[in-house]
Formats: sequence, structure tokens, C-alpha cells
Amino acid sequence: MSGSSQVYRSSTTAPVNIAVIKYWGKRDTALNLPTNSSLSVTLSQKSLRAHTTASCSESFSGPDSLILNGEKEEIQSSKRTQACLKNLRSLREQLEAKDGSLPKLSKLTLRLVSANNFPTAAGLASSAAGFAALVRAIADLYELPQSPEELSIIARQGSGSACRSLMGGFVAWRAGTKEDGSDSLAEEVAPVSHWPDMRALVLVVSAEKKGVSSTAGMQTTVETSTLAPARFKEIVPRRMKEIEKAIHEKDFETFARITMQDSNSFHAICLDSWPPIHYMNDVSRAAMNAVETANRKAGKLICAYTFDAGPNAVIYYLEEHTHQIAGVFRSILPRIPGWEGEFGEAVRPNEFGSLEQKSLMTLKAGVSRVICTGVGGGPEKIEEHLVDEKGNAVPHE
Ligand code: DP6
Repeated sequence: MSGSSQVYRSSTTAPVNIAVIKYWGKRDTALNLPTNSSLSVTLSQKSLRAHTTASCSESFSGPDSLILNGEKEEIQSSKRTQACLKNLRSLREQLEAKDGSLPKLSKLTLRLVSANNFPTAAGLASSAAGFAALVRAIADLYELPQSPEELSIIARQGSGSACRSLMGGFVAWRAGTKEDGSDSLAEEVAPVSHWPDMRALVLVVSAEKKGVSSTAGMQTTVETSTLAPARFKEIVPRRMKEIEKAIHEKDFETFARITMQDSNSFHAICLDSWPPIHYMNDVSRAAMNAVETANRKAGKLICAYTFDAGPNAVIYYLEEHTHQIAGVFRSILPRIPGWEGEFGEAVRPNEFGSLEQKSLMTLKAGVSRVICTGVGGGPEKIEEHLVDEKGNAVPHE
């Protein structure tokens, strides 16, 4: 195919990440610059991923468009999406200016199509994987030479946590100090291969009503929490050093303690905000109780909970303790979806996990599905396109 009808396409998948040191607070809302550094574990794309195709063609007319899970998204008014597109186009323009033989893709309308392999209703923040996939797919379409670290600066402007989804394994987002945000980027702390036996069990808890959005909640905290300044200035910087060391040394107990402390510190500054912000509910607290019980029984820390801006629990543990942790949850919650798939199939129900009756009943009533997964790699370029050769979106399944 040649000339004006040619459709240029590139597709990628990108992972979800769950922070163990939380990002909560912006020092610059326009550039999405954080008040503190954060650190996350990238989750396997076998369980959770965003799949995006970026395409452009002279035959496309009108404004850039995005179809997400089969629905047209309004992106013209989204400052964040526009910021990402503008940055990526300008990098392509620089390439085209240097090499006159390159097709002028920067001038063409973009058609973006994206789909998640998990239901949005699962209550998992999909924006991190979504923006990471969007940035990676367009960067590949434009054949940009930028590294994942450099691209993370762009993804960060879409959604802060998205910058950490451009890499696999254990990823830090360095807050940086520059006003223009050029040093606020993600960096790999350790690849998946360093600690591949890290597992994550997500307990999906349905919320009665939608909580405060991260963006709004963070602003309330920055403006009103009396505890937040100490967290930003002292607590997080110290924990970042400690947890990076624990990851390098594969010291699970330290990793687990800091993960739980930091989740609690984040929810404490939420509660200390005015009006107070509550994300955890009784089901979340029952999950916390189950983790504490498993650790007490083991006589050491073999699992760690962490909670984001919602009631879902994410529990980290090592593969060798699958039976003591995931096995107990499987015996409590045998019939809910999520135990299928590579990670879940390895889990046998463990009837011997003692848990007090109240927590047991609360978990049974409140957990609607599990996602049994582990640490995984960064975005992957794939040949499965969501836009066909003629430029039409492939119908959503
Ligand atoms: C609690 O990245 O969704 O999950 O930058 O406003 O899009 P925006 O916020 P977002 O916030 C994530 C908050 C968190 C903690 C974390 O992932 O570090």
C-alpha cells in the first residue's frame, strides 16, 4: 500500500502497577509533579493489561480520537491526554526536521483504540496501564528513540502512577526537584528476574458508593492535612531508601513491614484531611486482619497488605508461602471468580488458616472476585492490532 491511503499502526500492551510507597499529593497540578517519590511492583500482564493500537493516516480526517473498551472517549477536553499527545508529536517533529525522508506522521490525525483485559468494574485503577500503553504505542508508531525513563515524563502528565507502568519489576518514581518536571521520572529499581517469586493477590471489594477521585483527594490532603508535611519531607524519603535496600537484598520481612506502614500512613493522612477521606471499609479491615493473623501464625512477616484509593486489598507474598496465604483465601472464598489462570491454579485450598469468625463472614460477604497474580514485565510491542488495515476500529469483544 502506498500514498495517502496507507495506515500506519503500532500496538502495545502495558501493565498495572501497585505502589508499596504511595504517591499521594501534587506539588504542581498542571505538570502532575508529586510531593514525594513512590515505588511500585509491576503486575503480570497475564492477569491485567491495557492493549492499545495507535494509528495515523492521511486518509483520516478530523480531530484525534480514542475508543476505550468500545466506547468513544472525549479527549479534546482532556488536558492530560492533550499534554501527552502534544509532547509525543513534538518529539516526532524533531525527528522529521532532522531527516527529510521520514513521512510527516506528526501532521496526521491519530486514531487510538484501547481495551483492557479486565473489567473496569473490577475497581482497579486502569489509568496507569491505559496512559502507559497510550504513550508507548504512539512512541512506537512515531519510532521515537526515547528511553522508557524519558517516556515516563510524558506518561506522568497523563496520570502520575502511569509513569511507573512503563517498566517491569520494581519501579521508583523519583519526585525530582526541577520546576519543569524534567527530573520527575520513573526508574527501574530491580527487574522481574531479580525477585520473580513475588506474588500479589488482589481481593476485589465492591464499594457502596464511589470514593473521592485520587486527583481531588490528593489536593484536599495537601491543603488540609496536618500530618502530610512530615510524610512528604521525612517519612517517605527514609522509607524509599529502606525499601530499595530490602528489594535489592530480597529481604521480604522489611519489604512487608514498610509496605504495610506506608499504606497505613497514606490512609492516615486521608483521614487527617478535611473533609476526611475514607477509602477502606469493613471488608478491607477484615483483609488486614487476615494478613495479621497469617503473620502471627507464621511468627514472622510472610505477607503484606496495601490499599489504594478504594477498598480493594492487595496482598504481597512470596511463592513459597502460597499455601499459607492464597490457600487460606481460596478456602474462604472458593466460588468467586479469579482462581483460574496460571497463578491461581497453583493455589490449593488451605482449611487450616485460623481466622476469627467475624472477619471470615465479612470477607465471604464482601469480596466479589480475586486476581491472583505476581510481579511482571514492562510494556510489550505486539502485532495484534485494534485498528484494521483500512483504519477502522476492530469491534470490541
Ligand atoms: C493511591 O496516579 O491515579 O494509587 O496523577 O491524579 O492521575 P493522578 O493520580 P493517580 O493516583 C494514584 C494514587 C494511589 C497511589 C499510587 O499509585 O502511588
